[in-house]
Amino acid sequence: MADLTDRVVVVTGAAGGIGSALARRLHVAGARLVLTSRDAGRLAALTDELAGDGDGDRVTAVPADLADAAQVARLYEEVGRRTGHVDALVNLAGRSIPGEVADTDVEDYLAVWHSNVTSAFLSSKHVLPLMKPQSGAQVVNVSSLAGRRPNATAPLYCTAKAALDMFTRAFGLQVRERGIRVTTLAPGGVDTPFWGDRPVDRSALMTADDVVDAVEFVLRTPARVQISSIELEAFGR
Ligand SMILES: NC(=O)c1ccc[n+]([C@@H]2O[C@H](COP(=O)([O-])OP(=O)(O)OC[C@H]3O[C@@H](n4cnc5c(N)ncnc54)[C@H](OP(=O)(O)O)[C@@H]3O)[C@@H](O)[C@H]2O)c1
Repeated sequence: MADLTDRVVVVTGAAGGIGSALARRLHVAGARLVLTSRDAGRLAALTDELAGDGDGDRVTAVPADLADAAQVARLYEEVGRRTGHVDALVNLAGRSIPGEVADTDVEDYLAVWHSNVTSAFLSSKHVLPLMKPQSGAQVVNVSSLAGRRPNATAPLYCTAKAALDMFTRAFGLQVRERGIRVTTLAPGGVDTPFWGDRPVDRSALMTADDVVDAVEFVLRTPARVQISSIELEAFGR
């Protein structure tokens, strides 16, 4: 498997449950990290934790609303200044607003769409100039089994993740000639703050590290191998 030492990895949604677990894992693996999500406080706490072992220059935090075109453009200008290039982008930013369609207003619909789909589009657009052609660069978009198996609880989320899946496949075809590999990771339920106070049996869910295992596997795949899609879900509990 490929070595992650000194690979520059951008993680969106980095302050979240899966994002922070991924940041910890990649930091130990020797990657150079750019961490981004909206909550500057949580991002700073994570960066301080990782930089605590004297590796401060290997972790950069840039807070941004990843659904805001101007903020994302500025984010990648900053990434370019600090790192010069990007080897991998992991899009984890996303949220769900469950509810009956009849009771859902358009602001919630757009919030779910923008956090899951627009954020991945904007980051993909702006990271491309920073990815060296034929260097084994990767984009990993974390969608969800909800984008493949509809549920009645969260139709907006199912729709947004299905769209993210298709965006990932079509974008992958566009960048294939540059040697950039694009992967969809579609997890089932994971025990993270994503669920808020919704009545879910957390003990029946995967852990964030279960998903991180899969992301790390994709990132360590040799450049001659393309992983298009992975589904993973809790089993036997
Ligand atoms: N947990 C699950 O059961 C599960 C299952 C399948 C797929 N997923 C997907 O996995 C990804 C990570 O989820 P998680 O479980 O780690 O949830 P989480 O703990 O709620 O983290 C989500 C992260 O996304 C960020 N985010 C959302 N909208 C954003 C925006 N507009 N701009 C910047 N950052 C934004 C949040 O940052 P701020 O709070 O700072 O805005 C947060 O850091 C999500 O895409 C989620 O849909 C989760």
